[in-house]
Order: sequence, then C-alpha cells, then structure tokens
Amino acid sequence: SPDTACDLILFGAMGDLASKKLFPALYQLHRADLLSPGTRILGLARRDYTLDEAREAVRERLLEKLEPDEVSADAMESFLARVGYQNLDFSSPEGYKALAKWRSEGPADNTLILYYATPPGLYATITSHLADLDSCDEHTRVVVEKPIGHDLPSSRQLNDQLASVFREENIFRIDHYLGKETVQNLIALRFANNLFASQWDQNHISHMEITVAESVGIEGRWSYFDGAGQLRDMVQSHLLQLLCLLAMDPPSDLSSHSIRDEKVKVLKALSPMTQTRIPTHLVRGQYTAGTADGHPVPGYLEEEGAAGHSHTETFVALKVEIENWRWAGVPFYIRTGKRLPEKRSEIIVHFKPAPHYIFDPDQKHLANNKLIIRLQPDEGMALQILTKDQGLSRGMRLRQGPLDLSFAEAFDTDRIPDAYERLLLEVMKGNQYLFVRRDEVEYAWRWIDELLDNCEECGAHPKRYSAGSWGPVASIAMITRDDRSWYEDA
Ligand code: BG6
Repeated sequence: SPDTACDLILFGAMGDLASKKLFPALYQLHRADLLSPGTRILGLARRDYTLDEAREAVRERLLEKLEPDEVSADAMESFLARVGYQNLDFSSPEGYKALAKWRSEGPADNTLILYYATPPGLYATITSHLADLDSCDEHTRVVVEKPIGHDLPSSRQLNDQLASVFREENIFRIDHYLGKETVQNLIALRFANNLFASQWDQNHISHMEITVAESVGIEGRWSYFDGAGQLRDMVQSHLLQLLCLLAMDPPSDLSSHSIRDEKVKVLKALSPMTQTRIPTHLVRGQYTAGTADGHPVPGYLEEEGAAGHSHTETFVALKVEIENWRWAGVPFYIRTGKRLPEKRSEIIVHFKPAPHYIFDPDQKHLANNKLIIRLQPDEGMALQILTKDQGLSRGMRLRQGPLDLSFAEAFDTDRIPDAYERLLLEVMKGNQYLFVRRDEVEYAWRWIDELLDNCEECGAHPKRYSAGSWGPVASIAMITRDDRSWYEDA
C-alpha cells in the first residue's frame, strides 16, 4: 500500500461523479490494499445525513456499481469505516469549519487532498472559502475536473483563483482519458518500441485518424451540454490530449515535467483554424431522431430538458495539422460524436506505401500498413500487414492480415481498472504526469476559442445527422476530398 496516508475530502459526495466513479474507485483501491491504512475519506454534500445514513447511502451506490464478485462483506465494512460525512452548504463559511474539526481529529501528518466533485460553477465559491481555512497549506492538494472554464478567459480566471490558494504542483486537473490504461499505453507503445519510434514521422506516416464515438445521447445533461457542445466537452480535453500523446516528441524521462513540456509543444504547433480552413477542415453535426442499439431515440432538440432551438454541435469531424518538422503534411483526422452507431474509441496510424511497388496493380490499394490502436472496448492493437496469399493457384497475390493483440487474452487480465482508480492513486502519490498542467489547458482553449470564433463568423450551423449514423455526410466528404476514407473494421 502507498506509504502516504491521506485525508481525502470529497466535495459533492452524493453527486453523480462520486457515486458512479469516485467511491467505486476508492473501494477497488481499498480492496486491492492500495490505500494506506491511515487514509480517511470525508464526504461533503448538502444532504442532512447522519454518519450512519451517509455510509448506508454510499453502500447502496457501491452495490449498484460493483460486480457481485467484487463485493465482500469484510472489504465493504472496512472501507465504510474509513468514510466520514458532513453536510455542507457550499456557500456558507460556517460549514467549512467542520472540515478543520475533522482534520484535527485525525493524524496531523496525513496529506490533505480536496476533491471538487461538484458542478464547475461551485469551484470558485469553494476555493474562496478554503482560502480562509487554516488547514490548507503549501502541501494541500486539490483535484478539479474538466471543464476548466468555458474558454480561455474563464479558464485563466479559474486557474488564477486556484493558484491563489494552491501551488501548481499540488493542482491535479483531471482529464479522465489520461487515466485509461490504453491511453497510457500510447506512451509505452511509442517510446518502448524502437520499431515504432523510428517510423513515427512524416517520412513514414501518411495520416492518422482518431475516432471517439459514443452511442449515448446527452444523458439528461442538456442544459450543461447545450452551453458546451462536443468541441468544448470532448475535443478541448480528451481528443487534444490523445493527439498530444500521439504527436509529441520523445520526452527525456517519464517525469510530469518532461511529458507535459512535450505535450505543450504540440498544442503550440497546432495549425490555427482560420476562416479559410474551416470549410474544408471542420464539420459540425447535430443528431435528429433515429435509433440507438435498435431502439428509437429522440433528436437532440427533443431530448428531455431541451429548451427549443439550438445550434450546439453533438458531432465534430476535424482535419488537424501540426506545423512542425515531424508532422508537416500529415493530417490528423479526428471525429467524435454522440448517438453514433456504437461506443468505440480507436486510433488508426496509416503508414506510407513502400516506395516502389512490384505486385499486382489491382492490389495497390492494399499497400499501406496500418496500426490500429483500440482504446475501448476490446482493448488492444492490431498491425495490418501484407503477406502472400496461401495456395498454389494464387501466384503472388497479396493478402492483408492483422498481427492482433487483445490485452484481455494476451495478458490474462480479468479486469481493466477504471481510469479513476489510476488517477486517485496518482493523486495520493503526488505524481502529476497523468494530469493536465495549466499551460496545456490554456493553449488548448486558445485553439478552440479561435476555431469557435471563426465558425461563428462563417455562420456555418451544424449539419443534421440521424441518431445511429456515423455523422453528417459532409464528414465523409471531408476525408474523401483527400482521397482517403474513415477506417471501418472489416
Ligand atoms: C466526459 C464527457 O468527459 O466524457 C461526456 O463530458 C462523455 O460527454 C464522456 O460522454 C466519455 O467518457 P468515456 O470514458 O465513457 O469515453
């Protein structure tokens, strides 16, 4: 178990994030003996629960989330014994005094971690009250969730406010994609295998695709989502992080500084989405009624909570260019959307064809090697290579086949840990390499803000697509214009 005993305070302990992700992740860490015996958890929420009622509520939520074979009476009881509860009106200074009291009742050298699992609208209020609290010092860590702001000015304001109370090395900005095992694996794949490291540039790669498709709609979050849209909600964070990990130069070591310095260089080199580029480099879409998993589903404007007309996008396809030596002339085609046919996140690396082709001209379209990195589900990777088709009658016919690695089969993993387990563990260890640094957030916003401003100027509204389809036809046209197509699993 990690040596550091922590006092973890969860603001918004009865909310969605805590119930669906944080308590289950903490329970799994506890069960795997990865929490220090001295670690304590304090839940804070508006609800007026006694300690027993609060523990009961946590137990119920855990039972809803966990698989039956993950629950043991012993682990559950000893986990709940770590959990304290305090009701708190986030805007009343009085309530915060209870935190100091709870702190004083535990071991004085436990590292204090404050986790803002509340709507982002409350971050400022909580931070300003914490500023007055004696128990926050230069070692206190704070964890905040995306979105960090709504645009560059608001993210700066939020970052400034956090900086007035916490040191940057103690601010853990979560992008949960960085906690996914397969996303971290991009670092291993690229920098542990010289085979790939030496091929990873414009000399050998023609283009890349990143698809993050979801079959869900906006899941009852219309009012949040309508103010954000897929560009702010997914591209500014998850997709740009994936792009950075794919495109960055090799860091000199695995430290947070080295990795994040390299990511920032990619963000700075993103080619700006100017008004002239937008018509050929960006497609936005909004879903209309259709189907999901075989059932009829309403369109975005008819979702529960929808407030009439809206030009918010639920789908984006982008052609992103990176203006540096390594990636000149290599487009990164990115697409992400709600209500697509399936939940699937994957990266396709398209290698350039061999410089001189000697096989059947009819088969020339097969000539590119592809590396397919499956982030979720069916985590793994496949390298598409060309071999000779077997059999005497076949002559020198080529055949495309995968060198396929399924992580679940190859490594006998019974369970892939949830992103939040890894992230909470790293917060407790004080390791920031899987968290987003202030300059990363701000460069990402700068690029998104310019794109959105130019979009507005162009007056281009999202195009319609039926729920259950792969987005507006314009997103297919965007890539076919370059004589390419989105990868489809055969
Ligand atoms: C969140 C977005 O950050 O990520 C959601 O706010 C999205 O809109 C979710 O559905 C997707 O995460 P995952 O882990 O299910 O791919």
